[in-house]
Amino acid sequence: MIKDIIAERVKETDAIIEGFLPEETGFARTVREAMNYSIHVGGKRLRPILMQEVYRMFGGSREDILHPFMAAIEMIHTYSLCHDDLPAMDNDMLRRGKPSTHAKFGEAMGILAGDGLLNYAFETAMKAFDSVKEDDAVLTWNVIRSLRILADKAGIYGMIGGQVADVEAEDQPAEDITMDRIGFIHENKTAAMIESSMMIGAALAGASPEDLDRVEKIGSDIGLAFQIRDDILDVTGDDKTLGKPAGSDERNGKATYVSLVGYEKAVEDVAAISQRAVDLLEELPQGAGVKGQVLKELIRSLVNRDR
Ligand code: IPE
Ligand code: IPE
Ligand code: MG
Ligand code: MG
Ligand code: MG
Repeated sequence: MIKDIIAERVKETDAIIEGFLPEETGFARTVREAMNYSIHVGGKRLRPILMQEVYRMFGGSREDILHPFMAAIEMIHTYSLCHDDLPAMDNDMLRRGKPSTHAKFGEAMGILAGDGLLNYAFETAMKAFDSVKEDDAVLTWNVIRSLRILADKAGIYGMIGGQVADVEAEDQPAEDITMDRIGFIHENKTAAMIESSMMIGAALAGASPEDLDRVEKIGSDIGLAFQIRDDILDVTGDDKTLGKPAGSDERNGKATYVSLVGYEKAVEDVAAISQRAVDLLEELPQGAGVKGQVLKELIRSLVNRDR
């Protein structure tokens, strides 16, 4: 059952991330506590799991190289949530079923914990070099191109860019909320980090540039479907199941896929876009066989997720 496999993967991922978290000591202890808190409260760990699945699919077997990147992607994602919940952004007090980082540690620590996680993600990813032999040019190159993906997809041409457009679309007149604009927001604030996860999995395993492009497209579709489902759940979900406040988008006057096309079309599109991702995956020789099976089922399981 895919549910059991995912539950097992989440446990493994938690243990991997744990191994990289900072010690809660010294005069800067509070920020480390806030960073660790925001990771420890949980989450689906979708991005590191996708990374690992793609890495294995492309034949990767060096866990010592992969693990720092799995931890790093979850740190960047978690920082984006710490900042997304701040009073100046979505002003949400609940995250992953617990008080959001700023609600627990105050606004300054909410900001600094996010900053800390973003920087620490790169400190962590670069630990992959500890396992690369000096004369291993191929592995060195695979780690460097993965670092570049990690940096690019999280920045102004990726996740941060999407958050900017999301914030600026708040309370805009309906005619200004076009499909183009929502598409840009979803592609960047959410899909970019999913693409990053999957592309790094492929890059670390030595995938060709052509295969990286294909993986990017699959990640883009998974990300778009994921964010449409997130917008749906904001309307239909409840705080307890979601672990975050339902109705946040409406309260903030957000432009969402549901507000643009309506609930029914949104549900249809999640299924169609997810199916497109599965089809693209099957076009890859690695994705069609048994090695792509878990990934395929994982994509399908996201269509009807309730958190
Ligand atoms: C929440 O991401 C933010 C979005 C991009 C929709 P997740 O739904 O993956 O959040 P966690 O990691 O499980 O808490
Ligand atoms: C945020 O999108 C995506 C991020 C980059 C954090 P949302 O604002 O919809 O995410 P949730 O619903 O708070 O998790
Ligand atoms: Mg937001
Ligand atoms: Mg939010
Ligand atoms: Mg949301």
